[in-house]
Order: sequence, then C-alpha cells, then structure tokens
Amino acid sequence: MKATIALLPGDGIGPEVTTAAVKMLQAVASTYQHEFSFAEYEIGGCAIDLTGQALPGRTKVACESADAVLLGAVGGPQWANSKMRPEQGLLELRATMQVFANLRPVRVHPRTSEQSPIKAEYLNGVDLVFVRELTGGSYFGARTRSADSASDVCRYSTEEIERVVRRGFELARGRRGHLTSIDKANVLETSRLWRETTIRLSAEYPDVTLEHQLVDSMAMLLLTRPSHYDVLVTENLFGDILTDEASVLAGSLGLLPSASLGHGTRGLYEPIHGSAPDIAGKNKANPIGSVLSAALLLRYSLGLEAEACAVESAVDALLDSEELTADLGGNASTTGITEKLLELFHQRQQKPKQEKLAAA
Ligand code: NAD
Ligand code: IPM
Ligand code: MN
Repeated sequence: MKATIALLPGDGIGPEVTTAAVKMLQAVASTYQHEFSFAEYEIGGCAIDLTGQALPGRTKVACESADAVLLGAVGGPQWANSKMRPEQGLLELRATMQVFANLRPVRVHPRTSEQSPIKAEYLNGVDLVFVRELTGGSYFGARTRSADSASDVCRYSTEEIERVVRRGFELARGRRGHLTSIDKANVLETSRLWRETTIRLSAEYPDVTLEHQLVDSMAMLLLTRPSHYDVLVTENLFGDILTDEASVLAGSLGLLPSASLGHGTRGLYEPIHGSAPDIAGKNKANPIGSVLSAALLLRYSLGLEAEACAVESAVDALLDSEELTADLGGNASTTGITEKLLELFHQRQQKPKQEKLAAA
C-alpha cells in the first residue's frame, strides 16, 4: 500500500527517537512491499526558533493531508519563558486534527519489570489501555492571569464525553470486556456529567462491565492491583498524570507509545514521554516508545495488523536480550538498540520463510 507519513521530530530527544521509528517503518515497507513516503516538518521549540510559531501553517497543512503523523516530543528549558510555548503547538495540532481519543497501552514485559520498583507479583499479567480524552477539559478552557490570581476553566460537553467514552466501551468489548471510568465526581461538576454520561451509555454495552473509580484512589490502585484493569477511560489532565504513573509498571517512561485518534483513520502517534532535556543529544534515549507508536500507526491508520505485530514482536525480542538503554539498567545507546531491533525484525521475517523452505 501507499501511505504519506508526516514526521514531526520536535525538540530534545524527539529527533533521536523518531529516527529509530522511521528506520523501523522503512524496514516494514521494504519487507512487506509498501510505499511509505516521509516528509519532515517543524513543531514546538525548533519551529518557534525558525518561524516564530509553535505550529507553523505548513506543518498544519501537511498533517491535515497526511495518512498519519509521527511526532517525537516538544519543549525544553530554553523556551520556558518564551511568550509562545512549544507545548502550545502540540495542543493546537491535537485540536486541528480533532484527535479526541488518546490510546496509551501499557504492557509489562517480564524482563523490564525487573526495573520497576513494584514487586513482580503485582506486575504479573498487567495488560491495560488508557483512553485519555485529548481535546477538551482544562487544557483547552479559557485562561486568565492577573498579578495575583490565575484561572484555567475545565469544561466538557456531553458530546465530548460521549465520543471518547464510546471509544473506551468499544475497545473494552474487543478485549476483556472491562471498563473503568475515572473521575472526581465527589467534587467536580464536569466529573458528575462524565459519570452520568458514562452510566447512560453503558446501557448500549451490556457485554462490558463498567466500574467507576475516583481519581485519587485510582492513583493508588494502579500500583497496588494493576492486573485488575483492562480499559481505563478518563479526562485529559487525569489521563496525562495517570499514564506517566502507569509507566512505572512497565519499567520506564521511555517504553510507552500512544495513538491519538478521531473519527476517521488519520491519527497522531507519539511516545508518551517528553523531550527529556537531561539526556538530549547524548544518544541515550530509549526509542521503544516511539517504535511502538509506529506500530500503532501501522495498526490504526494503515490497517496493517500483521506488520504492527511484527514490529511489536521485534520489540519483545529486544527486551528479552541484554541490549537495553540506561533507563532500563543497561548501557546500550539509542542507535545501538535501533540496529539490534532492526536485526531482530529481519531475523523474524526470515524465519517463517526458512521454515517453509525446509518443509517443502
Ligand atoms: P520527560 O518525559 O521529558 O522526562 C522525564 C524523565 O524521564 C527524564 O529524566 C527523562 O530523561 C526520562 N525519559 C523520558 N523519556 C525517555 C526516554 N525515551 N528514554 C530514557 N529516558 C527518558 O518529562 P519532563 O522532564 O517533565 O519534561 C521535559 C519537557 O518535555 C517539557 O518541556 C514538557 O512540556 C515536554 N513534554 C513533551 C511531551 C510531548 O511532546 N508529547 C510529553 C511530555 C513532556
Ligand atoms: C503528553 C504531554 C503533553 C500533555 C504536553 C507536552 C502538552 O505531557 O503528551 O503527555 O500534557 O498532553
Ligand atoms: Mn504527559
């Protein structure tokens, strides 16, 4: 198949991890005979430096016409006090692309769970997906600021809640049939509307068991009984915080991918971590979150399930090996594990062919 993929490497470690993901996509294209065309655009701090805008017009136009967008990360201390923030570019892109549902899967590989401070017995069988609302709530409400006060409005419409919660129910239906809706309905009006809407929708999904959890206790339960959870749906800010917390289960923030989806197939794919200014430019970043985001791109935007699984299985094989980056207790470099990953990917492609030949 032919596909156009817009690349937005961004700032800090963004370009380093995106390079790894692109190499993997190129390997997929040549192995499975697809034609992927890549074009790079600026977003975030590098875009501000170049054009004065965090999301330049040409980047926006390219993302709106591409089949999918692969993003690295934005932000960094050099833009902390600038009038326009790099993060604003990312928020504007999510709003422009109308990608209201941000899927953040968390799987625990036995090898990397050794890096988790959580005891192995709690990590057994953890396989969950967060569905984070991505284009509403306090991220997009009106902001005010005076010398001695500030406000950020958190607003949700029923429609905004419905479309993302439906995504949660549908995802749960195809998995273990369990949906946890996370809110703060004991205090917040937006959460009360969230809970009412979720309960109303649940009538349409009798095959899915719905449970509600307040966000504060959820933060604790996520670490004490993670294997209980299947699909978890929540509003923008709660989802942002809980998914960084969930990365502790997997062993590193550098491992988690995400897919941001709207109504169509076009999506925005990015690892959940940021620009990691402390390790940027040092060839130390773990590229797996970005490579797994590329796998989600293959699955959700291009419908290439076998190819997505092949990438995920190469990542599993890599995590079984000795070759790990510093965040996972190893001393391999970003480029080093990228090479190893590609080697594992190619090896696994040849194996079935060799087995066929042997059988013939
Ligand atoms: P961060 O995610 O950048 O880093 C937190 C810690 O995790 C750091 O110690 C970092 O070295 C480590 N880490 C992150 N990704 C890693 C990887 N792939 N491999 C190894 N270690 C990794 O969070 P932060 O320091 O709070 O934020 C830095 C900047 O990134 C801020 O400007 C923030 O706004 C931005 N940010 C951007 C995105 C995005 O573009 N999607 C996401 C989160 C944060
Ligand atoms: C993320 C990031 C972003 C968010 C920032 C950079 C705007 O933390 O993608 O998780 O808060 O959504
Ligand atoms: Mn975040």
